[in-house]
Amino acid sequence: MSRSLDIPVAECFEPLLAPMRYKGAWGGRGSGKSHTFADLLVDNCVARPGLRAICIREVQKSLKDSVKFLLESKINEHEVGHLFKIRKDDIVTPGGGLIVFIGLQDHTAESLKSFEGFDVAYVEEAQSITARSLELMRPTVRKPGSELWFSWNPRHASDPVDMLFRGPNPPPDSVVINANYDSNPFFTAELEAERAHDEIAQPDRYGHIWLGHHEPMAIGAIWDRLTLHQGRVTAEQMPELERIVVGVDPPTTANPGSDEAGIIVVGLGVNGRGYVLEDFSTRGTPEKWAGRAVAAYDHADADVIVIETNQGGLMCELTLRTIRRELPIIMVHTKIGKHLRAEPVAALYKLGRVSHFGAFPELEDQMVMMTAAGWEGPEHVSPDRVDALVYALTELFPKLIRKKSGPVDTFDEAWEYGRNTTTGY
Ligand SMILES: Nc1ncnc2c1ncn2[C@@H]1O[C@H](COP(=O)(O)OP(=O)(O)OP(=O)(O)O)[C@@H](O)[C@H]1O
Ligand SMILES: [Mg+2]
Repeated sequence: MSRSLDIPVAECFEPLLAPMRYKGAWGGRGSGKSHTFADLLVDNCVARPGLRAICIREVQKSLKDSVKFLLESKINEHEVGHLFKIRKDDIVTPGGGLIVFIGLQDHTAESLKSFEGFDVAYVEEAQSITARSLELMRPTVRKPGSELWFSWNPRHASDPVDMLFRGPNPPPDSVVINANYDSNPFFTAELEAERAHDEIAQPDRYGHIWLGHHEPMAIGAIWDRLTLHQGRVTAEQMPELERIVVGVDPPTTANPGSDEAGIIVVGLGVNGRGYVLEDFSTRGTPEKWAGRAVAAYDHADADVIVIETNQGGLMCELTLRTIRRELPIIMVHTKIGKHLRAEPVAALYKLGRVSHFGAFPELEDQMVMMTAAGWEGPEHVSPDRVDALVYALTELFPKLIRKKSGPVDTFDEAWEYGRNTTTGY
């Protein structure tokens, strides 16, 4: 790799300056990964006339998703605009080279063949790259002296890019560095304010967002993020729903600063699969959560509200009925722990029977902190969203969760013991 412009590079990125087949930089938000690779690419183009590079993402719906705009601003910043020609879809580099921008999901091994003579492949947001994409691209960039660059914010240890570079057998010809905001000399005051706020406001996610840690997940969690991510569906993939249920886990005290009320809407598709549709969870007075639960019921055109009534069952029902007298309510009273109730539902996810319609970050954060031994999340937080989810899905999948014959296990026993249905008056 050669350089010709005198572009300053933060110290932690210096190992990336020497030639190497694989170059990786991982870390948290604002560590300068994107800017540094963009600087290096512009510098390389000037130093090596005719250089050809592909800038890769897993999904590139439009050029707005790509690093094209960043490269353009770097070309201007380094006052080399006269050497480049910026076109609508690509950038012509000095000496007749080219920089192109692609999403690997739009490609096959065949279509990638046209990139065999390229010198650099730069993969941005490489945590999203699938194993298939990685397998496709690695042999594509095969010109002698060619390099593959990756920058990513780690998500899971099981993500293909993490396994490749941070697993037990990284490629021998690779250099991988870790960068964080505190090693970025260009870190801005605006980003610092964001960081400081996150440190206080969401301590459980701070390490992931800003320090490059994997997404928090308890050891032995009964749900895992990969299953949740893989199960996601979009509007086009939604079937017709034959039953819609609102699950409610009311807070145990009326103090507005106390627990949240978990309010989760789920539906059963005509295809027999469960779908998590909305998360309406809220903090506040009984009037507030009950109002939201009824609003969720109306909004989703639901069939029934399922509510946990271990504490103050009658009060909960009354609060709901004050808002709407004739409301179909199923009251659930259980004697077993939250995690025991959650396990059969987690098993449905593992079987691929439940999908999330979009993403529910707060709910999903709670799900991956639930283990077979109990809740492993922050002590001051109660997993109300998971509880609401579990009540609602259990209502949709009664047969799967309660055994038809054989000895009654603790879960079934407790569940049947406490089950009490009142539908309207
Ligand atoms: N070489 C540089 N020249 C000028 N500004 C820089 C440079 N490197 C980083 N910065 C500043 O630091 C900020 C964060 O850098 P960058 O966007 O490259 O981080 P990142 O590691 O890619 O983070 P993210 O995870 O948010 O994508 C930029 O918005 C920019 O303001
Ligand atoms: Mg970036």
